[in-house]
Amino acid sequence: MLDKKIIDLCNHQINKELYSAYLYLSIANYYAEKNLEGFAHWFNLQAKEEYEHAEKFMNYVHDNGSEVILGSIEAPKNDYNDPIEPLKVTVEHEKYVTDLINEIVKVAHELCDYRTLNFLSWFINEQAEEEKTANDLLARYEIFVNDKKNLYLFDQEMKSRA
Ligand code: FEO
Repeated sequence: MLDKKIIDLCNHQINKELYSAYLYLSIANYYAEKNLEGFAHWFNLQAKEEYEHAEKFMNYVHDNGSEVILGSIEAPKNDYNDPIEPLKVTVEHEKYVTDLINEIVKVAHELCDYRTLNFLSWFINEQAEEEKTANDLLARYEIFVNDKKNLYLFDQEMKSRA
């Protein structure tokens, strides 16, 4: 049986992963409306990944005989000043999610909850990857932003994400 503090943090994380999906859907919609179809496709897939992260936490809570409690999901930002802003928002959001994961790791440590620490190791690696991907996207956009042809090619490349 998991400690109540861990169950509460997992439920909080489920909410934040679903919010992440919601945020990335809002970004996908923004890019679709700006005719950047590759970016829209990429963020749609990212939203699905975030839903899968929420699922992993839900399964973990259930597998340990505890209850998933879903709260309301905050509305994401729905408009952006320019196409680079969502990429900046993504970088900051992934750093925030890393902090949330680290907080659960910290509490699991304090409780000597090795099972949860083991479960969280996947998320520690995933966050390192997600932060790197978000930083790379922003850095590349900053390089390409002044050249419309390069931006078109970048958008085409984003379309190829499977
Ligand atoms: Fe589930 Fe992008 O963090």
